Formats: sequence, C-alpha cells, structure tokens
Amino acid sequence: MRITSTIATLAAAKLVASQALNDSNPDDALWGATSPPYYPSPWVDETTEGWETAIRKAKEFVGQLTLLEKVNLTTGVGWEGGPCVGNVGAIPRLGFPALCLQDSPTGIRFTDYNSAFTSGGTSAASWDRKVWYDRGYGMGEETRDKGIDVLLAPVVGPLGRSPAGGRNWEGFSPDPYLSGVAVAESVKGVQDAGVIACTKHYILNEQEHFRQGPESRGFGFNITDSISSNVDDKTLHELYLWPFADAVRAGTGSIMCSYNQINNTYGCENSALLNGILKGELGFQGFVVSDWGAQHSGVFSAFAGLDMTMPGDTTFSSGYAFWGPNLTLAVTNSTIPEWRIDDMATRIMAAYYFVGREKNYVETNFNSWTTQTEGWENAIGNKNWGVVNKHVDVRREHAKQIRDAGARSTVLLKNNGVLPLTGKEKFTAVFGSDAGDSLYGPNGCSDRGCTNGTLAVGWGSGTSAFPYLISPLTAIANEVLSNGGIIQGITDDYAYSQIAALASQASHALVFVNSDSGEGYISFDGNIGDRNNLTVWHAGETLIQNVTAVNNNTIVVIHSVGPVELGAFVDNENVTAIVWAGLPGQESGNSLTDVLYGRVNPGGKLPFTIGKSREDYGTDLLYTPNNGEDAPQDNFNEGVFIDYRSFDKNGIEPVYEFGFGLSYTNFSYSNLKITKHPNVPAYAPNNATNAFAPSLNSTPVSTDLADYQFPDDIDRVPLFIYPYLNSTSANASYGDSQASEPYAAADTSSYIPEGSQDGTAQWKNRHPAGGAPGGNPRLYDVLFTVTATVTNTGGVVGDEVAQLYVALGGPDDPLYQLRGFDRLYDVQPGQSVTFGADLTRRDLSSWDTVKGDWVITDYEKKVFVGKSSRKLELEGALDL
Ligand code: NOJ
Repeated sequence: MRITSTIATLAAAKLVASQALNDSNPDDALWGATSPPYYPSPWVDETTEGWETAIRKAKEFVGQLTLLEKVNLTTGVGWEGGPCVGNVGAIPRLGFPALCLQDSPTGIRFTDYNSAFTSGGTSAASWDRKVWYDRGYGMGEETRDKGIDVLLAPVVGPLGRSPAGGRNWEGFSPDPYLSGVAVAESVKGVQDAGVIACTKHYILNEQEHFRQGPESRGFGFNITDSISSNVDDKTLHELYLWPFADAVRAGTGSIMCSYNQINNTYGCENSALLNGILKGELGFQGFVVSDWGAQHSGVFSAFAGLDMTMPGDTTFSSGYAFWGPNLTLAVTNSTIPEWRIDDMATRIMAAYYFVGREKNYVETNFNSWTTQTEGWENAIGNKNWGVVNKHVDVRREHAKQIRDAGARSTVLLKNNGVLPLTGKEKFTAVFGSDAGDSLYGPNGCSDRGCTNGTLAVGWGSGTSAFPYLISPLTAIANEVLSNGGIIQGITDDYAYSQIAALASQASHALVFVNSDSGEGYISFDGNIGDRNNLTVWHAGETLIQNVTAVNNNTIVVIHSVGPVELGAFVDNENVTAIVWAGLPGQESGNSLTDVLYGRVNPGGKLPFTIGKSREDYGTDLLYTPNNGEDAPQDNFNEGVFIDYRSFDKNGIEPVYEFGFGLSYTNFSYSNLKITKHPNVPAYAPNNATNAFAPSLNSTPVSTDLADYQFPDDIDRVPLFIYPYLNSTSANASYGDSQASEPYAAADTSSYIPEGSQDGTAQWKNRHPAGGAPGGNPRLYDVLFTVTATVTNTGGVVGDEVAQLYVALGGPDDPLYQLRGFDRLYDVQPGQSVTFGADLTRRDLSSWDTVKGDWVITDYEKKVFVGKSSRKLELEGALDL
C-alpha cells in the first residue's frame, strides 16, 4: 500500500505515545500477580436445571466407551488432520462420527457457498435482541448444513478493554451488560439451530501482541511465554466475566480457553478460572476446549479443567501431543483418575445432547484445506485422496437478514439535514478506496488479511469467505441510476488532482474511509493484529480534506473495526453528515443505501465511545515486552473503568459518547416510573453440596499396555494424533516422535497438584455466588421494573434505543453503568410508547472481594433513562 512518509512518522509517534500510556510496571500491585490453585475439577451435575436429560444421556453414552474411545473424544487429531479446523477422533464401533469444530463468529470459515455475516461489534450497534438471535440462528443453520458440530463463536473475549485491540470487532462491546445480552441471544440462536456454540476466548484475551510466545518470536519479540493479563477479582467479576456468565446461563455448550495467561497462569491450565469460577461458581456443564495451541501441559491442564485439546498436536502438524497417547498412559497408570476423563467425555457429550446434535446430524461436506472438489481427506499427511468438497449452498435467505442487520447497526453520527438523500441528487460523486471493490476480489487475501477496497470484515480466523461483496459504490450507483441521475467515483485515495476536479463538480460528495485490524498471526501494513493507531487508513483524513476543500456537501462514511479518531473533519462545516457503518458483511452497500436513502431510518447507537484521541480512553495495549524475555505483564490497573466508565470518571468529553446515535426523527422521554417488586426472596449464599464423582460403569481400565497398542490393520495417517500407544513400554511409547512427547517430570507435584485426584469428596460447599448456570439464581431475581414514556416528536417513523443506567453510588463504582435497554421499533410520528426494563439483584450488586460474593451496598442507588450514556433525560432513586 502507499503511505506517505509524514503519515508513517506520525503513526510511529502515536505508537510511542501509546507505549507510554500502558503504564504496567514492576511497582504495580498487579505486577507478577499469581492465580491460586483450585482442585479438584468439578464434575458435571446431573441435577442442573435444563441439563438433566443431556447429562443423563451423556453418561449413558460415555458409560459404553473404552478408554481409547474416551481419549479420542477429548483429543484433536492434529492440525489439518481432518476436514475442519478442529476434529476429534471418531468412535466407529458405535457409529459415532468424528466431531467437527469450525470458525467463525461471522460465518463459516474456509469453505464456499456460505454467507458472510455482519460482525459482532457492528451488530452490537443495533442494540437489537432479534438481530443477535437471528444472526446466531442463521449462522447456526449454515454450520449445521455444512456438517459442523461446534461453531467457534460467539466472542466476548476480547471485551474491548482498549480500542486498538485487534479482535474487538469479533466481540460485541466494551460494555459487559450489552455484550452479555448480545452473547446470550447469539448462543440461543446458534444452539436452537442444533449446533454447539463455543463462547470464546476465556478470558482477558484483550490484545494480539504477545498472545503466544512462538508467534511473537516470529515477529521479532524475544519472549518465552504469553502475556499475562493481571486483574483483580472485582474487575474480573464486574467486567470481563460478566458476559461469560450470561453465555453460561444461556446454555453455551462449550467455552474456549484463551492463549494468554491470567495472573501468570495459562488460560487453559488455570484451575482458578476453569475449575473455580467457570465450572464452580458459574456452574458450567459443557466442555472447555483449548484455543488452537493454547494447551501447555498434559496432566496439569487435565486437572485444571480442560476437557478437549485443539487442534490436538503440541504445535501445528508436529505429530506430538500432550494428550492422545499420553492421556491414555496417564489414565492407565492412575495419574489421572478415571472420573476425570469420564467427566471430560461426559461434558462433551452433554453439550452434544443439550443442543440435539443427534437429531441434526449432517455429514461434513467440505474441507478447510482446499477449495477444489477433490483433495486429501487428511491434509496433514497427504492421505486419502477423493472428493472432499461438495460445495453445498447453505446460504438460504440469509442475505436479507444480513442486509437488514447491517442497516439496523448503522449509526448516524452527524446530520445537518442532508440525509436522507432522495436519489434525485443532481450529481453524486463517491470517493475513497473504501467505496469500491478490492483489486484482488473480496477474498483476495487469505483470511481477509489485507485492506483493499471496501472494508466489510476484519482479518483472521474470525472471518468467512464472501460469496460476494456489495460495495457502496455499486449500491449507490444502482440507486442513482434507477433515478436517472449522474454518478462518478474515484477509488484511488491518492489521485489528488482528479479528486479535486470531480469533488468541485458534484452536488453531493460521499467520502469513504476505513480502519482495519484482526488476529495476531497476520500483520498487515505493520499492524500485528492490533491497530497501531486509531486514525483512518489510506490517508483518509487527507482525502476528506481534499474533498471538503472544494465541496460543501460532503458525507463521510466510516467502515471500521471500532472507534476512530475523527480529527478535524468532525467539526468541518462542509462535512454535512457522518455515518459509522462498521463491518457490515456481504451486503455492505445495500445496508448502507437503505439508510442513506431513507428506506431505513437509522436507529443504531454506538456500542463504544468515540474519543478525541487514544490517550483519552485511559487504557492501552502493550506493544513492547516489559519483562525481559519472560511473560509480558499487562496490569489491568484501571479496574472496571474502561470506555465510557473511564471517560465519566476522568471527566473527559468524548466526541460521541457510548450509546449515541441520531435518527431522521426525534424522541422525547418522560414519565419515569420505578416499581419495586414485593416479596422477593432474600439473597442467600449458595451452600449446596455435590455428590461424589460418578462412576459410569465403563469397561474397567486395563493397566496392561498391550491393550492400547495400534491395531495391526490400521493404515496410519502420518502426523495424525491417535489414542494408541506404540510400545508396551511406557517410556518407549511416549518417546515415539509419531505419537507423543514425554510428559513425565521427575517431580510429580509440579503436575499433580494437591487435591486434584480427589474424586471421593467433591468440594463440599460450592461457591457462595454459584448454584446454577450463570451463578447464584437469586442474582437473577427481579427487584425493580423501570418504565418510561418515549415519544416520537419528529416527522417520520423510527426506532429508538432507550437506555437505562444505574449509579451504584460507591467510591469504586462507575458513575453510570448500563443495566437495561430496548430497541423500540417503528414508533410513528406523534406516537408514545412505553419503555420497560427489569433490574435484577445482579444489576444492582457489586463484587465484594472479602466475602467473595455479590452484595448490594448501602450507598444510595439511582437509575437514569435516556437516549445515550450522556443524554440521561430521566432520573430516579431506588428505594432498597
Ligand atoms: C485461534 C483463534 O484464536 C480462535 O479464535 C480460533 O477459533 C482458532 N484459532 C481456530 O481457528
């Protein structure tokens, strides 16, 4: 790409500034934080409401399995070992096919004839439960029809601690409440379609830099271990864990543990987070799967609560495995008790039955590693040639839904009356590479790892191939030409003289700018996943300047992964409108023209704050290792104060606040009513006890290694991970390069933590904040219902997203926290409708780090209703 040296220097300067802003240093209390041990790993609880049948069926199924078959369920066959990005072994004896796990949170990755959906972060701007559910259901249908069992979505980690985080757009919003509602609807949508949702990445996976040691070394950073996100318990519960609790409550069948460390223990072997919080406090009954390559130990990760390893090999296509044959060995020699592997397998099968997979089976009909019809079934070892892609068209009518979601998620930031356009404009000119088609086609760069042409998704595993991509220029041209008008476009951002000439002729100029980011294995234009800055790309500000210099009716459209710095153009009076269109997916241009030409009255609201500069956010990424060659330490010193909570606390004026968005009409708010619910049971810490680890009456585990050898008649796929042993000698077996890597250390205490093998006495009293999926059921009691009247005072029908915020009143509480919202559809001019939201106990509670439980503090509590986080028209006190 072209970039002027001044811009390059500017970008470098911004990078330096941001390094200074991430103030993690050895004097912080959080520096070198440690994660406490929590053992044993909680086993599934058949009495869990909603999960009873699924767990019972799972136990029956697992009860029939041999050890080798159980190992097969838990261990991936190796990178590129099967058709999907993740595959476990099959159980042919029972006719049980290998499970297929596939990305992504925007549609099916690595295939064709699929849809490319609106990104999570963009859909968040719809504030529309139906958009999230339908999006999840649509993706679920496509997943099911391609023969996939587990969709690796939705995302609520990253939450979006810092706006430059590369994968924020895969998730929803830095607000935990908004993300929580969005993830719950998404999980329900995906799973109602009959496939397992995998909510990821658990947890504090807030940046791409240093997420993995080897990847970072590839980019020239000399570090041995992944970054550690260091966080305190309050921040964990009130912010980052919040939406995961909602996902668990909604029934997510699986959770993916993340690459990063949390308080200096890896996410996939962090017993405090997996055993203690996820399976204990949140009562999660499904299975934990590792992110791809996020497993760092065998026995230790099994005890910490990992249930499935992906892609199964220690490093991609190495042929070595932490589990597979090593898990077989570890169970035969009683290092890992049988109940733990039974629990892993039961959790996997419980998720399977929970979503009704047995009724929805479709054979996998694509292969991730080739787009050709024929190819290797096992690309890992170039084995088994044949038809691998059936090119099944799974798109159904999803295009309509994607178009609609894109339009509903579009946020109108500025409008001096120029919008909506009529289509009868005299001379429309369109500018910017972001308006047009990519020179390489919509899928020209692997995993969308470049920014060329209009931006409709970020890059990385969170993408799917576009079946087509409607560019804004195409859609605007269709609009104008159907009205007999004139339209011309220039998509070279740097064609300065041509731009000036055309802009001066046009009655209406539409300028398109963008800003991209993605996953950390791809670096584009020096952005290693994360954005280096928040400015618009391709010298977008200059482009806007060049157009506005000669055209006083310039509409700016932004396609971006998150907030961008709007610079001087926001106040430029020749910029007559600004639209944030996010990452709309395949129908991009159509969604946009629906809004620009008034078929859809914009109702989207910002799911994040747009600040003047990155410094204003008060948080930033770590771009340089700060701990020598050891794990970089990323101290979440800001606590719960990210995004608008930080702006509010620090008294910083944003350009556009969280929750902001204009409409072609106006709404007024009146008549706040707060109704206290009578007779709500008091909060009671959970003190239920759990039964002993179940015995599934499976075939008794033989200790004779001869029983676990490779069968004679097997045609082995090179580098494929099997559960079998190569030798009757344990040492020789794990030393075989084809099968496994030594796991045994001389000192077993390093991988057999105290209490980890104890299946006879489950943790006696469960976590006080636990008791049901999502936490203590009393947290979800409704204490108040708040209503208000919303009136359309303008001249056209429109949607309004009414928002409810609470102030919990304590010195450590944010000034305002979102705790309710509703998108009120199609409010007619002059019509008044009632907005209503329930406030649960959880909504009004704070995490008490001493009690280790939620409490409602004595501070005065207030409630606010309005149209954004800073336009809070109505206010009332809560009588607790
Ligand atoms: C790594 C990514 O972090 C994760 O989101 C994805 O699902 C896996 N790779 C599989 O592609």
